[in-house]
Amino acid sequence: MSTIAVLTAGGDCPGLNAVVRAVVTRVHASGGRAVGVLNGWQGLMDGDTRLMTRDDVRGILTRGGTILGTSRKDPYVHGQGLASIQPTIEQDGIDAVVVIGGDGSLRTAVMLAEEGLRVVGVPKTIDNDIGGTDMTFGFDTAVQIVTDAIDRLTTTAEAHNRIMVVEVMGRTAGWIATAAGMAGGAEEILIPEIAYDLEDVAARIVRRHDHGRLYSIVVVAEGVAPPPGATVPVVVDAFGFERLGGVANVIGPQLERLTGFETRVTILGHLQRGGTPTAFDRILGTRLGVAAAETALDGGSGVMVALSGQSIATVDLAEACREPRKVPPERYEEARWFLA
Ligand code: F6P
Repeated sequence: MSTIAVLTAGGDCPGLNAVVRAVVTRVHASGGRAVGVLNGWQGLMDGDTRLMTRDDVRGILTRGGTILGTSRKDPYVHGQGLASIQPTIEQDGIDAVVVIGGDGSLRTAVMLAEEGLRVVGVPKTIDNDIGGTDMTFGFDTAVQIVTDAIDRLTTTAEAHNRIMVVEVMGRTAGWIATAAGMAGGAEEILIPEIAYDLEDVAARIVRRHDHGRLYSIVVVAEGVAPPPGATVPVVVDAFGFERLGGVANVIGPQLERLTGFETRVTILGHLQRGGTPTAFDRILGTRLGVAAAETALDGGSGVMVALSGQSIATVDLAEACREPRKVPPERYEEARWFLA
């Protein structure tokens, strides 16, 4: 009988519970044992695990967050790699670990696989920036939340003739900004992949106002560089992880000065990761979880389950998380037609 462990590591994202539910259900269907690891890698380092029954995962499909808990603790940064988790692996008789993580956690999984641990990765992040997959679960929910926010900001912007600068997550990639900016009909979308000149942005907004459109929505990805000469304070969290956010607080006032139009800044922050996943993310999470469990039960390792077109595929894990997947220029061009 195989024992398959499952953990969620790094920032949470809507759909994690759908994957956990699918892994546990599929493992049980094969007569295996499912072990839930609490708080990401930390649980494997501390021996914080529990056997998961089918009942443990009932009713969680629609819930945001993760019933397993998560953390940014890492066995290589905060321990000695495989040696730090080996006691738990042996104590629980774990044959393989399904790692539901972003690029950082998946890179850790690659290193553990190189040391001999059997791992199967499941790409997770609202940022949609993991290679090897056409989309990550969580992204669709984040885009919907941001689109709703833009819709609301648009009516108040219009009422007051204001510029609304909306900062969204995404780390070094502009996927959320590009998709939600398009869905929300934003006038400007600034993403890390495309250089921008704030004076040009201001000139376009002034021209738009000259044509009678007296408000504008400017979507800013948190990872864009601040305008020349400006800085955004760097904040590092308890795990040494650099937190992005705040560039809109620099861009907003500069736009106000350059255009002469009243401007407000909204930083959506963790709202984008909270709450119930969309149907798309529930389905994608479920399909990836089933595939990850089957791969682990079949003896697979060093691979990641992924969305490829409409199908679920298995790709090389090390290859997939080599570098963040960026928004290609042609994708941004599609959105550019609708900008100011
Ligand atoms: O990677 C997901 C993400 O939500 C990023 O978009 C954001 O920069 C980061 O995590 C925030 O991390 P934390 O939850 O540690 O503040």
